[in-house]
Amino acid sequence: MMFNHYSMNIIVYILFVSSFTVFIAADTSSNVSLTQSLTYGNTLVSSPRGVFELAFFNLGNPEKIYLGILYKNKTLDQRVVWVANRGNPINDSSSAILKLNSSGNLVLTHNNTVVWSTNSPQTAQNPVAELLDSGNLVIRDVSSTNSNQEEYLWQSFDYPSDTMLPGMKVGWNFKRNLNRQLIAWKSSNDPTPGHLSWGMVLHPYPEVYTMNGTKKYHRLGPWNGLRFSGVPEMAPNPIYLYDFVSNEEEIYYRWTLQQSSLITRLVLNQSILKLVDYVWSDVDVSWKLYSGLPPDDECYHYGVCGANAYCSSSASPMCQCLQGFNPNSTQEWNSMNWSQGCVLKHPLSCNDSSKDTFIKYVSMKVPDTTYTWVDENIDLAACRDKCLKNCSCNAYTNSNISGKGSGCVIWFGQLFDITELPTGGQDLYIIIPASEFESEGTLLGKLEDGREIAVKRLSCSSEQGISEFITEVKLIAKLQHRNLVKLLGCCVEGEEALLVYEYMVNGSLDSFIFGNTNRVIGTFGYMAPEYAVDGLFSIKSDVFSFGILVIEIICGNKNRALFHGNRTLNLVGYAWTLWKEKNALQLVDSSIKNSCIISEVLRCIHVSLLCVQQCPGDRPTMTSVIQMLGSETELVEPKEPGFFPRRIPDEGNLSSDQNEVTSNDELTITSLNGR
Ligand SMILES: *[C@@H]1O[C@H](CO)[C@@H](O)[C@H](O)[C@H]1NC(C)=O
Ligand SMILES: *[C@@H]1O[C@H](CO)[C@@H](O)[C@H](O)[C@H]1NC(C)=O
Ligand SMILES: *[C@@H]1O[C@H](CO)[C@@H](O)[C@H](O)[C@H]1NC(C)=O
Ligand SMILES: *[C@@H]1O[C@H](CO)[C@@H](O)[C@H](O)[C@H]1NC(C)=O
Repeated sequence: MMFNHYSMNIIVYILFVSSFTVFIAADTSSNVSLTQSLTYGNTLVSSPRGVFELAFFNLGNPEKIYLGILYKNKTLDQRVVWVANRGNPINDSSSAILKLNSSGNLVLTHNNTVVWSTNSPQTAQNPVAELLDSGNLVIRDVSSTNSNQEEYLWQSFDYPSDTMLPGMKVGWNFKRNLNRQLIAWKSSNDPTPGHLSWGMVLHPYPEVYTMNGTKKYHRLGPWNGLRFSGVPEMAPNPIYLYDFVSNEEEIYYRWTLQQSSLITRLVLNQSILKLVDYVWSDVDVSWKLYSGLPPDDECYHYGVCGANAYCSSSASPMCQCLQGFNPNSTQEWNSMNWSQGCVLKHPLSCNDSSKDTFIKYVSMKVPDTTYTWVDENIDLAACRDKCLKNCSCNAYTNSNISGKGSGCVIWFGQLFDITELPTGGQDLYIIIPASEFESEGTLLGKLEDGREIAVKRLSCSSEQGISEFITEVKLIAKLQHRNLVKLLGCCVEGEEALLVYEYMVNGSLDSFIFGNTNRVIGTFGYMAPEYAVDGLFSIKSDVFSFGILVIEIICGNKNRALFHGNRTLNLVGYAWTLWKEKNALQLVDSSIKNSCIISEVLRCIHVSLLCVQQCPGDRPTMTSVIQMLGSETELVEPKEPGFFPRRIPDEGNLSSDQNEVTSNDELTITSLNGR
């Protein structure tokens, strides 16, 4: 079962009366085992609890008779879980007969023609067919004392129809060259194999796909040690246990129930193109549909964004090129036709590994694993190295994310079907030319433990004394929040001062405030003018950025073009103008307007305007910012904030409001993208 009960609460709705009814011949016998034959009107009941039965039935048309396994409970609709003669119905009940022949095979005949049979390669001395309470029809040799499941001569669990029951495996047995997969019914009254299938594909890093014909339709992603990479709902829970086994003999996925009293099944349904998770409710006397894959979100349709892009439901547009990549065709991309995907802006250096670097994406469903290579015995640092040394490698990550993470998987060629997940995604490292960063004034590096970092070099001519600098760094380090980029440390030597930040390409506060995905580590929208223009960076530049962030939080807008009257302003300019007009409350986002305390918000606006003053010397230190926010002392009037000349970033992605920015305004403004 794919989905846990927490997510279920939200999605649960009740399925109304069945769309078809199963007609079974009168139940005249209740064999617990079959040694000879079963005819129309007789059933084989599962033992010991009688949960399932093997019977002849029809789906409304008495001339189409099937042999199958059904829930015995007659109040259940959609009772059929397995069909023997799926595409080969019998048109006349009187001559249909199921026999267990002397060599231990079940043979279904109609008027002496074989309609369906099992194919056990072994011959048995004393065969018997039994239906187990799990819903598994098995043939075993009673003269053999071994009751091990693998010792069955044949079992229906090895040949699933459209339904996966607890304990059933989906995947491969190499010894027997067996691929267990679900194949949907053609329609709700025709069990003939349809064109929708669900099964495991044996890439170097195997994964599970739903295929629509020969086309990939949805990808669960590879097993990452905890769950399928693309199904964060598979968190530990009190109902289901998930089990993924990979060894030389077999690779399979299965789930089991922690409470055996539940009636639950996973069904591949072609009419709604989903794999659905049902649980029977005695209270409501109906199946409850808990969840379906793919979810009702275009982002989960295979490869919707084309190559080298990722899909994020919270981004607008939902498809984003990976950082360092441009749309293959800007025109197509802008008209929301993403299928052509994205290409690198600048080639990788490949031979000189110091010229290429990786961007870390967090909370991702990893790319399609068709072209991958896996080594379970090397760590992330060695994995990175492996990727850097192979010109075709474009991404890497741990192959197993449980615990601290272990193993290595690397991707070759184009990257397909990457999705940013709202929760429960995993880290993914994608290669780009290092020059992509240098152009943004931030250096990238790596700590000895393999952590990726961003380094800011502070101005040598900073007037700040070393001890003052250290005090400030400590303060910023204390200001850490999981939504803010972490300051990991600093280096001071002679005139050089470096700030070391956690390196993060997405998942920051920005995406939280603006329901938009972040692509660039650079901090243009938050950059102090002296840094953006002259490359001078001091601790006061961070005070500036802090000020911008506070204003953004208050008004729920990015620091970019806004209209005010007949002028175009950036957010800081807008805030300043309103402040001067004594209309600062207009800044406050309508969603918090009624719940906030006016005097506190005004004070925050006041402090943030002090932080963004043009001259670094006028800006308060972080220590006094905290004092100002936490007290009611009189504050000085802010001076004019820092504006800096408009510069269009070479990243494309200008939204329409930015395009309308005019540069002949009396204020010099910025339309630089926020980070
Ligand atoms: C039993 O049935 C299987 C499948 O039809 C067939 O291959 C086998 O020869 C049969 N054995 C006997 C003894 O008839
Ligand atoms: C069954 O077989 C007999 C003889 O082979 C034939 O006469 C009869 O029409 C068949 N019945 C059906 C329903 O196919
Ligand atoms: C597929 O789902 C639809 C809608 O829930 C349902 O009516 C139909 O019976 C299902 N088909 C099968 C084969 O279960
Ligand atoms: C890169 O990896 C692929 C797949 O393992 C391999 O075929 C190729 O030889 C490697 N190339 C280099 C230069 O190591």
